[in-house]
Amino acid sequence: MLEIANLEVVYHSVVLVLKGVSLKVPEGSIVALLGPNGAGKTTTLRALTGLLDIHDGDITKGSVRWQGEDLGELGAAAIVRRGIAQVMEGRRIFPDLSVEENLIAGGWTRSKAEIGAAIEGFYDRFPVLGERRRRQAGYLSGGEQQMLAIARALISKPRLLLLDEPSLGLAPKVVAEVGAMIKAINAEGVSILLVEQNAALALELADHGYVLESGRIVIEGSATELRADRDVQEFYLGLGGHAERSFRDAKLYRRRRRWLS
Ligand SMILES: Nc1ncnc2c1ncn2[C@@H]1O[C@H](COP(=O)(O)OP(=O)(O)O)[C@@H](O)[C@H]1O
Ligand SMILES: [Mg+2]
Repeated sequence: MLEIANLEVVYHSVVLVLKGVSLKVPEGSIVALLGPNGAGKTTTLRALTGLLDIHDGDITKGSVRWQGEDLGELGAAAIVRRGIAQVMEGRRIFPDLSVEENLIAGGWTRSKAEIGAAIEGFYDRFPVLGERRRRQAGYLSGGEQQMLAIARALISKPRLLLLDEPSLGLAPKVVAEVGAMIKAINAEGVSILLVEQNAALALELADHGYVLESGRIVIEGSATELRADRDVQEFYLGLGGHAERSFRDAKLYRRRRRWLS
């Protein structure tokens, strides 16, 4: 179980980006973290993986606990060894390396034999990667690159996988394939924190969801509850009368409606 409590993050000692975020990822579940560009989703993941340092960010309040242990003081490598892996925004594969070399690069916490066995396992489960094992990764399609990035993160055998906008820039059919891959990984017991702007996809996959706006969680609930929530429908699923409105307004709009009712 991952538990983030009242987390505040500041960049360059001055810019407060997370203003008291709390969320949980129960063992074995898929949890969606939704929200517009700039809300602080990637920052939340950086706080989990020890990567704030390299962006001159700091946790100034609150805590991140994983299976009871405080991750705040651990470095990025120690966190990977604890069983947390991340696929960063924008599919950061190595374009000049082959598919197989990319997978091997993900295995720095494991022995050669373990890496070999894990890679063969992937080729069985995701045959596209097997067929393209010798191909230079930069020549794969966007969807294949995303699958490769996810597979590479799995080589470290994580218990918790953090995905930062895996559907970004992918065609709808490919989004469905990546969605199926995420489901399959979860079915094998890996918990998933799924950051997405594609709320329809995320709420289809997730058990539970949170909406982050300007560094605060403004809506939280089961995926079923969120799909039925009027603000989520209007601002994140593009349903209802105000789909043309920027979803940046969801929080204000919600407040105003509460005030009017
Ligand atoms: N290294 C950084 N230094 C200063 N501000 C940053 C840095 N990284 C992100 N930010 C700011 O923090 C806010 C949240 O960014 P981010 O976490 O990337 O949001 P999201 O992933 O939801 O789009 C944005 O206003 C962004 O400009
Ligand atoms: Mg982001």
